Amino acid sequence: MTKKPNFKFLYGATLTSAALIFGACSSGSASTSTALSTEAKAGQELASASGCASCHGSNGEGRVGVKWIGLADSQVTLSDGTTVTADDAYLYTSIKDPSAMRRKGVTSQMPSNNLTDEEIASIIVYIRALKG
Ligand code: HEC
Repeated sequence: MTKKPNFKFLYGATLTSAALIFGACSSGSASTSTALSTEAKAGQELASASGCASCHGSNGEGRVGVKWIGLADSQVTLSDGTTVTADDAYLYTSIKDPSAMRRKGVTSQMPSNNLTDEEIASIIVYIRALKG
């Protein structure tokens, strides 16, 4: 992969606030394993508002677009036959430049969007929360 966005920086800030929110809530009511964190919920809402959910499903279950459940850190085979890990850099590039890396066997094309890096980071927090 040639594009390596400086993701750590952005992501660090997001995770820090997520940790703070978690810490503040941890003494409260019991949470289920499927409950999304506040940060992940924000990403889910953003994905809906940005039209991503119409292809990827309102709960990441996938439609025209690939499933987001279980996507993070999974192995993805690209159109040129190489296999990559769907890490943060992969997810970021897939959203920033949808035609940069095509999946093998997928013919539908994802449209481009105008999300900012912060918005992309927020959606990635959501995708990461969808462990499947
Ligand atoms: C018109 C349907 C459509 C919309 C709208 C759409 N996507 Fe996609 N998305 C796709 C398809 C199809 C792929 C698979 C493309 C490929 O790999 O060639 C994809 C792939 C992805 C991937 C990479 C997954 C993978 O491993 O291939 C991510 C992440 C993603 N989309 C996020 C988003 C986000 C965030 C939005 C909203 C800004 C969005 N998508 C909107 C159809 C869509």
